[in-house]
Amino acid sequence: MATIRLGDKAPDFTADSSMGTINLYNYLGDSWGILFSHPADFTPVCTTELGTAAKFKGEFDKRNVKMLALSVDGAASHNEWIKDINEVQKTTVNFPIIADEDKKVSDLYDMIHPNADNNLTVRSVFIIAPDKTVKLTLTYPASTGRNFYELLRVVDSLQLTAYHKVATPANWEHGQDVVVSPAIPTDEARKMFNKGVVEVKPYLRMTPDPTT
Ligand code: BEZ
Repeated sequence: MATIRLGDKAPDFTADSSMGTINLYNYLGDSWGILFSHPADFTPVCTTELGTAAKFKGEFDKRNVKMLALSVDGAASHNEWIKDINEVQKTTVNFPIIADEDKKVSDLYDMIHPNADNNLTVRSVFIIAPDKTVKLTLTYPASTGRNFYELLRVVDSLQLTAYHKVATPANWEHGQDVVVSPAIPTDEARKMFNKGVVEVKPYLRMTPDPTT
């Protein structure tokens, strides 16, 4: 088990899931991926998170992001729990949940933080680019459900900054002005961004979202 840092290759694995055996790299193919862990099956916050995740799947699909959850119980338990999630969240869980009874994947991704809890995973998120490098990690405690609007927002930022020489400012959302990469001199930026560049300070240059 090693800490996974940004830029590292996401460790590959093959594991059972609520939808059968899954190999991470085959499952992702050329897509982006989001892998998120849940402390355990039949827990209240996770039930709301997985129902919410299912409702967001269309938005992740639009962004070419494949979803993959993990919980440290078996596939049969996951499938029983999914019935409850579908019922109470009025949705259909439409992506796999990794079964991790032996904690192989949780260990591989350092999802168990023993000083928080020896047996349950924390709420980890890994966003993986098509080249299989890890682009984002988040760690939330078991008691705090994640914000799926924020996960979509960060995917928008990651995809924009992967393909354009920009960064995204505080609270940025798709379509709002972005920051020109600090490595680009302003005169070069003016040639590169045909929607215009505003130099607020020599180190803070704004330009409209190049994708809108
Ligand atoms: C939950 O998912 O509801 C949960 C799991 C473990 C501890 C606290 C909450």
